[in-house]
Amino acid sequence: MASEPTTVTITGGGGQIGYALMFRIAAGDMLGPDRPVRLRLLEIPQGMRAAEGAALELQDCAFPLLADVDVTDDPLTAFNGTRIAMLVGARPRTAGMERGDLLAANAGIFGPQGNAIGAVADDGVRVVVVGNPANTNALIAAASASPDIPSERFTALTRLDHNRAVGQLAEALGVAPGDIADVVIWGNHSATQFPDVSHAILPDGMPVLEALAERLGGEAAATAWLDDVFIPRVAKRGAEIIEVRGSSSVASAANAAIDHVRDEQLGTRRGLTSAAVVSRGEYGVPEGLVCSFPVTSRGHDDGYRVVEGLDLDERARARVAASVDELALERDAVRALGVL
Ligand code: NAD
Ligand code: LMR
Repeated sequence: MASEPTTVTITGGGGQIGYALMFRIAAGDMLGPDRPVRLRLLEIPQGMRAAEGAALELQDCAFPLLADVDVTDDPLTAFNGTRIAMLVGARPRTAGMERGDLLAANAGIFGPQGNAIGAVADDGVRVVVVGNPANTNALIAAASASPDIPSERFTALTRLDHNRAVGQLAEALGVAPGDIADVVIWGNHSATQFPDVSHAILPDGMPVLEALAERLGGEAAATAWLDDVFIPRVAKRGAEIIEVRGSSSVASAANAAIDHVRDEQLGTRRGLTSAAVVSRGEYGVPEGLVCSFPVTSRGHDDGYRVVEGLDLDERARARVAASVDELALERDAVRALGVL
């Protein structure tokens, strides 16, 4: 193998998304064809057998880039020297559980995992939180890893929402998804998110808004489609998948997590993408909230940077503010639990 393997830790390694992630990572889809990986799968005792079974299958694939696989239920072992941590395992919402109960249950997972990352991960670790409520779980993990690991190394996944928005636009415009650049997801990975197409363009530079107006019969029709169809569809796509499939998104979530880490590590290609990062006050979002913004990365361990200076009209600002208010409420609920 060419270089020292990069240690990638997946929590919830015995679960659905973990299973969809690990084979693609081992095949080189995330870090490229020249970077060998060492996988660490963290589970709780009940999930260990499933993770161990997946590890056997990984061995049977004989991936040239896969140096080794460890399965453990000990966070200190799982995060020891890790460079990329993908926090997928979370406590799902069950019948009768209030949002506060869900936040508390997940604080009990992401707090200790953040502590362990702070104690034993590589100084250059980058963390993406997938497990819901992803933004606030990332906030908890980042606070718990502080001061050993700077909070900007923690992100949460909104790339799935971003990809969903691109997919819906591509279908509406009759173009390929790769033709659409500069869509932005603002806010929380929840139904309050704001999928924003006002800066999106096609390869010839034509604004997506203009293309939609042409295709749908005028500006008013395009605005109505965005408000009544596109925004709710993207924002509630997770619920639609659960209803149609009978369980939450798996392959598309794993694919988005791979896109997120790949672009962060290797650099964004055309235009910007979306990721939830720790706010430094950009666009008036209170400092410290983990909020989805327009971002780019130059790769080379630079991480995601918020693209500043995009114009937001009054309606857009109100939509961003509504989602940011929800993030602030989640943060306050976690604070009230004494977690932050
Ligand atoms: P799953 O139930 O199939 O797997 C979760 C796994 O996590 C289980 O094997 C469980 O044993 C494990 N786990 C629980 N607590 C753990 C802990 N403390 N440490 C390590 N492992 C632990 O669920 P899934 O379908 O893989 O989804 C995982 C999470 O991802 C859920 O919270 C889901 O809501 C979320 N999700 C997020 C997005 C997104 O875009 N951000 C999209 C889809 C799903
Ligand atoms: C998704 O967006 O598909 C998931 O976050 C939905 C969920 O609640 O797991």
